[in-house]
Amino acid sequence: MAFQAAESTDAAVAEIDPAVMELGGTLYADNCAACHGENGDAERKFAGSQSLKHVVLIASQVIHGGEFMPKFDFLTDEEVAALGTYIRNSWGNTLGPVTAEEIAVYR
Ligand code: HEC
Repeated sequence: MAFQAAESTDAAVAEIDPAVMELGGTLYADNCAACHGENGDAERKFAGSQSLKHVVLIASQVIHGGEFMPKFDFLTDEEVAALGTYIRNSWGNTLGPVTAEEIAVYR
């Protein structure tokens, strides 16, 4: 899979389920890429972002929206988790997976 750096020894990255990355990628293309960029390189930039370490930021921004970002409260916890996992582990990011349980706390 192109999104998994084959040479990576990062345990968190190794644990990521390719099916979750695929779901996250599809949801991202459909809902997020228009603003954040296909490659996570538009404003607000995800590539290289350290703020994506914080699950609370991803969960609250997606579920409740932000100042200029609409809310995506129709997405399930599993879908938000897949999106979180996708943006945390694409474009050179290696921040590890997010679970639905971690997202549900901020619903
Ligand atoms: C209409 C444009 C738009 C869309 C669509 C959009 N966003 Fe955003 N997003 C923003 C803006 C603008 C910000 C900056 C904060 C604000 O204004 O709410 C942001 C901030 C964020 C942040 C916080 C990043 C940081 O470093 O502070 C995350 C995480 C995020 N968006 C995820 C997503 C995800 C996942 C989707 C798809 C489900 C998505 N966004 C769809 C415009 C958008």
